[in-house]
Amino acid sequence: MREKLVVGNWKMNGGLASNARLLDRLTSEWQPSEGRSLAVCVPFPYLGQAQAALAATSIAWGAQNVSANAPGAFTGDVAAGMLVEFGCRYVLVGHSERRQIHGESDRDVAAKAAAALDARLTPIVCIGETLAERDAGSTEAVVMRQLRAVVDALGPKLQKIVLAYEPVWAIGTGRTATPSQAQDVHALLRAALARADAPDVRILYGGSVKAANAAALFAMSDVDGGLVGGASLDANEFLAIARA
Ligand code: 13P
Repeated sequence: MREKLVVGNWKMNGGLASNARLLDRLTSEWQPSEGRSLAVCVPFPYLGQAQAALAATSIAWGAQNVSANAPGAFTGDVAAGMLVEFGCRYVLVGHSERRQIHGESDRDVAAKAAAALDARLTPIVCIGETLAERDAGSTEAVVMRQLRAVVDALGPKLQKIVLAYEPVWAIGTGRTATPSQAQDVHALLRAALARADAPDVRILYGGSVKAANAAALFAMSDVDGGLVGGASLDANEFLAIARA
């Protein structure tokens, strides 16, 4: 049985005071229960704050990006070992905002996932098609191309990743994929993972997940939880999603 996982992606949001309030609500109200776990991926400067607030709890934390390189002359980048020092369990790689705004390629994303695994972090590898790609009928081709780069780069370590399907047209738009649209893509991904000897990799859905739609999405057989953007900044919403 795959354990359900709900991950908050704060993106470039937060501040010391508002983070403290949010983390306080999460730590005081989240009841660890069998078969489900919770994590937050915060901006780099707040990793120490997340570590201090969450270290003694069942809530895990992580970062939103990592360098594929070992420490060295890479101004502005952050190495996987540095994330480990701050107690991270997870790191997002290949979020569509990084692919689109920073031009990260499938190969870059695969290299970041490999660097994370080498440091014993769990990469949450994000894939998903744009609206134009969906309308052109190329959803399957796009997500398979994105996944293939990771499969080829990781070999047997593929089993240790978490995959997140985030249709770009559903991110921050309020336009969630329907449960069956999500399930259709997750089933394709599950089959591809099974062919690559990694049938138990968890596949999260992301894109306008809210308390109101989380239960229906998470009820799908190949949806193993959610990657939550905007709603993860609101303690009531995020806790309700985590309990869904
Ligand atoms: P929203 O939940 O704000 O749509 O963002 C989804 C996302 O990008 C999570 O990584």
